[in-house]
Amino acid sequence: MKNKVLVTGGAGYIGSHTCIALHEAGYEMVVYDNLSNSSVEAINRVSALIDRPIDFIQGDIRDKKRLNQVFDEHKFFGVIHFAGLKAVGESVAKPLMYYDNNVSGSITLLEVMMAHQVDNLIFSSSATVYGDPKTLPIDETAPRSCTNPYGQSKLMIEHMLEDLATAYPSLNLISLRYFNPVGAHPSGQIGEDPNDIPNNLMPYISQVAVGKLERLSIFGDDYPTVDGTGVRDFIHVTDLAQGHVAALNYLQQHASSNSSSDAAGSVGFLPINLGTGKGTSVLDLVAAFTKVSKQPIPYQFAARRAGDIASCYASADKAKELLGWEAKLSITEMCQDTWRWQSKNPNGYA
Ligand code: NAD
Ligand code: WQD
Repeated sequence: MKNKVLVTGGAGYIGSHTCIALHEAGYEMVVYDNLSNSSVEAINRVSALIDRPIDFIQGDIRDKKRLNQVFDEHKFFGVIHFAGLKAVGESVAKPLMYYDNNVSGSITLLEVMMAHQVDNLIFSSSATVYGDPKTLPIDETAPRSCTNPYGQSKLMIEHMLEDLATAYPSLNLISLRYFNPVGAHPSGQIGEDPNDIPNNLMPYISQVAVGKLERLSIFGDDYPTVDGTGVRDFIHVTDLAQGHVAALNYLQQHASSNSSSDAAGSVGFLPINLGTGKGTSVLDLVAAFTKVSKQPIPYQFAARRAGDIASCYASADKAKELLGWEAKLSITEMCQDTWRWQSKNPNGYA
């Protein structure tokens, strides 16, 4: 079926929001997730929001037998591949776990896709593949390098996809490089639900605001930025979800697929940034969140975090040009939706 996609990792933060956007755009989906970093409650809530059951399979992307069964049962136009582990610090402590889960898992998925003549893939890559950028904004031609196993796993998968696209010209492989996803669905029903203490800034801020954490440590006040704190390209997760729909629409129009007869041509390997193109400092985000939540957010300055860079923001031109997509939501809206989710669900999905 030309409008049916497999969504690996679809129970997770970005995947769950993307399922809603896919449904609204008229796509059918099967969610495949081992729930290693998510909850079936996210699936239940997405079902309630779209008012229909989700076809959900609990499974691991490294389980070739199970994946083969799923591909035998369903005729997919393509795969949106979110499944992966994403904690940078954990990847430094447990590198093999990251290479096995992310790289071996992607190899297994690609093998099964190819065995079933499913040629279309949208892969969750990351701005982390750009390492410490030499120039800003970062466009897709910037050199790539990574300093931690998580980033390496994304870079290895990108290299694998490039090699595959060279070897098999019928493949259409879009690598979406996300900048810093934040925010939540405007209903406040789904959002980011980190295990333990959050590593990332926005969930940390929101847990301080709701009183779960005492104070934020701001890692570094002496970066060469507007106020000395790190600058990032925060992007609303619902904008990001729309970016996946735009990429899928692009594949529908441009991909030559064995599973579609009215094909137009082959895409090969296509990396595309998903960001807003704007940088916001840590202090600016704290100020915006304080204003929206009307809660105090105590903070202290601490040493720089190892591996952090000063500034990182996207050139979003290629996404606009090729996909006709651009981010629409502001930092205020990112904070409002995060706060609605956090204050309605102080313990996440638990
Ligand atoms: P997430 O952890 O919320 O979602 C990932 C999902 O994949 C989870 O539901 C998890 O249970 C599932 N999963 C993990 N390993 C699996 C496996 N072996 N088999 C089946 N399912 C598995 O993370 P997210 O923030 O939604 O990120 C989605 C993707 O985007 C990841 O690949 C991540 O690396 C990438 N990404 C995330 C960010 C970010 O800041 N959130 C930024 C850039 C890229
Ligand atoms: C943002 C800024 C911190 C927490 C990470 C991954 C990247 C991608 C997105 C997946 C930095 C500062 C943070 C805190 C702070 N994920 N900060 N106090 O590091 O840009 O990117 O998530 O692909 O790969 O590396 O995001 O939210 O962790 O940090 O001061 O408690 O906030 O120093 O300047 P980052 P982040």
